[in-house]
Amino acid sequence: MTSPDQSWWRDAVVYQIYPRSFADANNDGTGDVQGMIGKLDHLSRLGVNAVWVSPWYPSPMADGGYDVSDYCDIDPRFGTLADADEFIAGAHARGIRVLIDLVPNHCSVAHPAFRAALAAGPGSPERAMFHFRDGLGFDGAQPPTNGGSLFGGPAWERMVGPDGPEQWYLHMFASEQPDWNWANPAVAALFDDVIRFWFDRGVDGLRVDVADSLAKDMTFPDTPVDPVTGFGTPGFFPGHPWWNQPELETIQRHWREIADGYSGQHLGERIFVCEANVKPLDALIRFVDPGRMHTTFNFDMLWCEWTAGSLRAMIDRNLIAHASVGAPTTWVLGNHDSTRVVTRYGKPETGRPFTLAGPPPEWLGRLADYFSELPTDVGLGRRRARAAALLELALPGPAYIYQGEELGLPEVEDLPADVLDDPSYFRTGGRVRGRDGCRVPLPWSGTTPPYGFGVDANPWLPQPSVWAELSAAAQDGDPTSTLSLYRRALSVRANHPALGDGSLAWSEEYPGSVLAFTREPGFGCVVNLSPDPVDLPAGAELLVASDDLIDGRLPTDAAVWFALR
Ligand code: NOJ
Repeated sequence: MTSPDQSWWRDAVVYQIYPRSFADANNDGTGDVQGMIGKLDHLSRLGVNAVWVSPWYPSPMADGGYDVSDYCDIDPRFGTLADADEFIAGAHARGIRVLIDLVPNHCSVAHPAFRAALAAGPGSPERAMFHFRDGLGFDGAQPPTNGGSLFGGPAWERMVGPDGPEQWYLHMFASEQPDWNWANPAVAALFDDVIRFWFDRGVDGLRVDVADSLAKDMTFPDTPVDPVTGFGTPGFFPGHPWWNQPELETIQRHWREIADGYSGQHLGERIFVCEANVKPLDALIRFVDPGRMHTTFNFDMLWCEWTAGSLRAMIDRNLIAHASVGAPTTWVLGNHDSTRVVTRYGKPETGRPFTLAGPPPEWLGRLADYFSELPTDVGLGRRRARAAALLELALPGPAYIYQGEELGLPEVEDLPADVLDDPSYFRTGGRVRGRDGCRVPLPWSGTTPPYGFGVDANPWLPQPSVWAELSAAAQDGDPTSTLSLYRRALSVRANHPALGDGSLAWSEEYPGSVLAFTREPGFGCVVNLSPDPVDLPAGAELLVASDDLIDGRLPTDAAVWFALR
């Protein structure tokens, strides 16, 4: 049974489930909640402490479920509320906490509140739930501001009513995702009910989607024009009218009070994890000030290049910043929005979170820095990803595993264009291929697709023909497999008193291209990013290695954990 540890979240290993692609119990090609229930034993054996379930709500799936039409139900393709209850109970029975996605910045155009807003006239309370504005220019044919959507194109969509074109509404993401108006107390009240609905059902925490937006500067000023796209800059920069507005603090403190109202129950504190890309780090850290949110998802690590200098600087600045407010740092190698770690680390440039099929189109402008079109050495990438897993799991604080990382899955970079589903693909006229390559359904068993994902239905995205050896079943009995590495590391982590929350001390006796640190009592980790094999400290007793040692020495792009006596 779950331990009554109130602060479980300070060192939990959290496994992200993307429901569409995890396991398909009803064999319709799409993952579902019964499929998730069927894999709880896999998660238990893997040794994770919590799961984060990406949106499972009713949704037209214009953005993979991040376009929610009902926050208090389950999409029929995924199952029912009874299935969700069964999943939560089954996870809890195995000592696994459950986090789910909360999507408060926007909903779906199919949400009843948005439909009501469309039906009601300008100036109505229904429209005040969203950001409706008259257009500019003759006949209001120009959008109210120059804002650009993060998925490409303009961030305003003009409605067409029975009498023709009328007002515009704001959507920071796809046009099917209208932004809620957080200046309206009725929106806050709606989300209070949603949060309580899920806490009352037993979920242990909420991952807050786009937690750095929600509140907008209600004067809606234009932003600097991106000379290439012609739209206002959509990405985060300090002072941007859509990001990190001061009102967020009030929202977050209020949510924290709701969560704290549930504390003292037998499963421990209910928590919030922010998805926030706020820069600089000093500004992000305000989100986890005492009395605000519990943790924030670490994009700094997810986007860090594979060099010892960058990694060490990233680790230090995060540990120092988080310690200054008493919050744990999270550690992250992947999620459903980024190129899988095996592929990122297999490219000549390792610090780019997204892949392109060709050279970056000019209109990507500054965002092009985040994209790589370079070829992948999957073997090299997997080797580094295994080492990175040991680094991640040895650091102080909670760690996240994106489904399939434990299998060493690479990004599927060659999905045919006609199966792509990501709105960023469509909103950029196919120039950005989007995030489907990290969302390909998991291989569980068997030698041909669907590899036990379902029985024989074609998965919603096709799986590569070469994934047989990557299936969970194929890796199960192989002590050298990535699955075995994760199981072993998580087992050591669960039982070693030095691991989890706490601190680390860098060992300075190695060259700067090697990461080496100790944790008390008696634990050491070395990650070799240098071109040459390195020795382990005298007396080190090996606990886990990401690769075979060569004559007792740790090869390049490998990591070890050891006990020091
Ligand atoms: C972040 C989510 O992780 C991503 O998948 C989604 O497209 C955007 N937020 C919009 O909800």
